[in-house]
Amino acid sequence: MPQNHHSKDTTETSIPRRAAVAGAGALAVAGVAGVAACGSGDGGGNGGNGGSSGGDAPETGTVLGNASDVQVGGGAVFADAEVVVTQPSEGDFQGFSAVCTHQGCIVEKVEGGTINCGCHGSKFNAADGSVAQGPASDPLPKRQVEVNSSGEIVVG
Ligand code: FES
Repeated sequence: MPQNHHSKDTTETSIPRRAAVAGAGALAVAGVAGVAACGSGDGGGNGGNGGSSGGDAPETGTVLGNASDVQVGGGAVFADAEVVVTQPSEGDFQGFSAVCTHQGCIVEKVEGGTINCGCHGSKFNAADGSVAQGPASDPLPKRQVEVNSSGEIVVG
């Protein structure tokens, strides 16, 4: 008699346990959906930057940044103004369009004496913007830049 009662008890407890597992599964799905929404928001922001590349020169007098950010033998990409500035030798600042002549990406960085595009690997000589490595076939157009009395690089 007491044994019979015990086995009935066991059957009853297994039902709520299964319900609890199903509830946890639903929570996990909701969590994943939240993360995905965040990720797509970030991607949208980046895409907007690329879409603005029309190849137009920025306005004369636009401050790009500090001359000290452009190392001798290196350079800096000012993506907002779509200008890349290099300093092949001390005090010699060269400005170029930062819009890759291959398919219009903003070039990624200046490294190893070349201005490098991260999209398909084109490289341009930091001293004169000429093509050092394809697939681009045209040089980066020149942009006039100057250093003002405050040590800032401005579009000339
Ligand atoms: Fe720069 Fe293709 S857009 S290499």
